[in-house]
Amino acid sequence: MRIRELELPGLTRLAPMANISNAPFRLITRECGSAFSTTEEIDAMALVRGNPKALHIASSYPGEHPLAMQLLGADAATLVPAAEMLAERGAEVIDLNMGCPVRKIVSAGKGAALMRDIPRTARLLRAMRAAIRVPFTVKIRGGWDDEHLNAVDVARMAEDEGVDAITVHPRTRSQQFSGKAPWDVIREVVEAVRIPVTGNGDVRSLKDARAMQASTGCAAVMVGRGALGRPWIFDEAYACLPACEQRAYRTRVIQRHIALIKEHCTEHPKAVMIQMKNHLAWYTEGIGESSAMRDRIVRCHDVDGIEAIFWECWGQATDNVEQSARSGDDERTVSEAARPARV
Ligand SMILES: Cc1cc2nc3c(=O)[nH]c(=O)nc-3n(C[C@H](O)[C@H](O)[C@H](O)COP(=O)(O)O)c2cc1C
Repeated sequence: MRIRELELPGLTRLAPMANISNAPFRLITRECGSAFSTTEEIDAMALVRGNPKALHIASSYPGEHPLAMQLLGADAATLVPAAEMLAERGAEVIDLNMGCPVRKIVSAGKGAALMRDIPRTARLLRAMRAAIRVPFTVKIRGGWDDEHLNAVDVARMAEDEGVDAITVHPRTRSQQFSGKAPWDVIREVVEAVRIPVTGNGDVRSLKDARAMQASTGCAAVMVGRGALGRPWIFDEAYACLPACEQRAYRTRVIQRHIALIKEHCTEHPKAVMIQMKNHLAWYTEGIGESSAMRDRIVRCHDVDGIEAIFWECWGQATDNVEQSARSGDDERTVSEAARPARV
């Protein structure tokens, strides 16, 4: 995909996910083959006020650039200075969240609420466009609810206001994450605009990603929950490796991920623990007695203990995976209900 002057090789890219798509996870997925990543949403007001958590979310590793940084906000008075701050901090792309369905967010006029008043949002995008020199993108939903399916109108408006690319997660705000993502909405947006469109929703494998591209014509595919505990989903070569090499690959990735979490969150010991619990529990998903392993991980309250439990379980679990791979039953699934602990 090409976003203005940025050439982004590869079909798949990591989705922004609050409390998950932080610098360590983005770097890991990037090294596994994600073409490009977006930070989790950063509240514009918090950023402008110098809130340490917002500044921490906006931090990144050199190896994960080019990087899109995503803003959440309701008005130009905060979004414009916040976008300028992110560009100064090295964002190659500024993305605006127009899809967050959370009640507290939309009731403040942010996220998916921006899809409800197109003329007002057009003025907001115009103000941001005028202030930002780097590429500017938006991430939208299919609409507010079944009576207001306006992704095409919103996408056309965004293009008219100079937005460089669009990501579409086609569920409505009311649907939240329920039901199946209606990919035909992505196709309708692709057909309606000339700027590149990234499709998103329910992609769990590279096969799914190719199917989404074939059925919608999207330029790239964003993967969220399908990458939890499986950052190697982005690697074309991974599936072709023999089982023993896949195991070594996964072990290397997890070791590096743990090291990055510890290094990145040093000032926030609680954040290290939550990140470790979430990601290590996801890494056990679908293998061996994973629910028993997750229980032990979740009940443990110190970082070294969590890591020790994980490696003990991982040793046993990978043996099980090898056995199931030999019996031709190596298909894993990621729980739809993967819910992160909040930092
Ligand atoms: C825990 C969680 C946090 C999310 N946070 C964000 C966010 O910060 N910004 C955003 O645009 N979308 C966010 N999303 C939505 C995802 O980017 C994506 O659109 C959605 O999960 C559907 O894609 P998937 O089926 O590949 O998971 C979040 C989703 C989840 C599950």
